[in-house]
Amino acid sequence: MNKNELVNLAFKAMENAYVPYSHYRVGACVLCKDGRTFYGANIENASYGLANCAERSAIFSAYSNGVRKEDIEALAIVSEGKTIAAPCGACRQVLCELIGFDTPIYLANRGAETTTSIRELLPMAFTNEDL
Ligand code: THU
Repeated sequence: MNKNELVNLAFKAMENAYVPYSHYRVGACVLCKDGRTFYGANIENASYGLANCAERSAIFSAYSNGVRKEDIEALAIVSEGKTIAAPCGACRQVLCELIGFDTPIYLANRGAETTTSIRELLPMAFTNEDL
C-alpha cells in the first residue's frame, strides 16, 4: 500500500469521529508490514479532558489486536482543518513508545501533506530506556 492509499484510509476513518464539542474531525490509520490496517478517529466526551485523539485510537486498536512496534510500517493522521494537524504532546509520547522513532508518519489535510517521524516530533524524549 502506498502513502496516498494509507492517507485515504485515514480520511475514511475520520468519518467515524465523534466530535460534538470541538466539531474538529481527525482520522488515523496504522499500516502493518503484513498489510493489515487499523483505523482510529477522535472520540470526545462531555468531560472534555477524556477525549481520545485519533492517532491514539488507531495505535491502541492495533495493539489491542496483537500488533507491536516492530510490526508497524507507517501511520497516517489526517484532519479536516485548514492546516495540517501534527500530533499533540500526549500523542507524541504515546507514539514514541508504541510505533518507534523512525516509522514514517504521514500528516495530511484535504490540500497538503507532509511526512515526519517521532524522532523529529519528540526530541529528547523520555522513554523506557530512562527507567
Ligand atoms: N485531536 C486529534 O485527534 N489528534 C491530533 O493530533 C490533534 C487533536 C483531536 C482531539 C479533539 O477531539 C480535537 O482534535 C480538538 O482538539
